Amino acid sequence: MAQRVLENRRILLTGASRGIGRELALELARQHTRLLIVARSEQDLSELVTELVSLGAASAESLAGDVTDPEFRASIIEHIGREWRELDMLINNAGVSAHGRFARHDEQVLRQIMEVNFFSATELTRLALPLLANGQDPLIVNVCSILGHRGMPHNSEYSASKFALRGWSEAIRTELHSRGIEVLVVSPGTTDTEFFDHLLTKTDSLPWGKQKGISPEAVARQVRRAMQLRRSEIYPNWRGRLLVAVNRWMPKLVDRVMNRFG
Ligand SMILES: NC(=O)c1ccc[n+]([C@@H]2O[C@H](COP(=O)([O-])OP(=O)(O)OC[C@H]3O[C@@H](n4cnc5c(N)ncnc54)[C@H](OP(=O)(O)O)[C@@H]3O)[C@@H](O)[C@H]2O)c1
Repeated sequence: MAQRVLENRRILLTGASRGIGRELALELARQHTRLLIVARSEQDLSELVTELVSLGAASAESLAGDVTDPEFRASIIEHIGREWRELDMLINNAGVSAHGRFARHDEQVLRQIMEVNFFSATELTRLALPLLANGQDPLIVNVCSILGHRGMPHNSEYSASKFALRGWSEAIRTELHSRGIEVLVVSPGTTDTEFFDHLLTKTDSLPWGKQKGISPEAVARQVRRAMQLRRSEIYPNWRGRLLVAVNRWMPKLVDRVMNRFG
């Protein structure tokens, strides 16, 4: 099958105010796409819109709001229905985490992480499906994590949310195949963004310390390439890919290593 064309494609991208989402917006602007970017930080979004247009985006606009709010999600879809009538790509990237032992956190932490990382993606996708079904060469991109392949201590809620996102993505990929809608799952490892400064709560520091990650620019480049090449899964960070491979074949060994940090 031919490579996916990005030029002039209408793309909805969540979590674009900083980090991986912001770099992905810049990367896609260079491909002359039409972008609707979403996050809560209104000022950051409007500054980014100007940058996207100057980089070559065919068009760029933003909507500020919380993706966990059903009314905000509905308003995004109404906006697209009015302005574009159809949608070519939906990128579910907004995400949040919390660090600390499960026993020290309350139910609210788990529910909020599931709301942002899982339910906002599933419910935005549900609303977007009729628009995607009429879009050109439609694609859903779900930004997951290596922790959606291997649960990590002190990240139980986040791991659960990303496992859920990956399982759901796998299921809908097959459901949507006959409708011509493709699904790409992106599983980054540690990435050098402000993600760790925006944790919902931090009741413990990670015992393995701060890991050197890859740049969000490198993740964005790989995601853009994967969109063009019609890949269904990518692991932008080689350490992450290695962990997933070792865990698949030697899960007990990885358990033993993780037990030291429990
Ligand atoms: N950094 C890593 O090491 C890493 C590793 C694997 C996977 N990931 C995943 O990559 C994705 C992007 O993370 P990042 O590293 O770029 O983190 P980041 O720099 O903290 O960016 C997160 C983005 O999500 C938005 N967001 C968070 N909660 C939101 C909400 N309730 N409503 C609307 N927008 C919301 C934030 O914008 P506002 O605050 O302005 O709303 C921001 O634009 C996430 O799904 C994350 O789980 C990150």
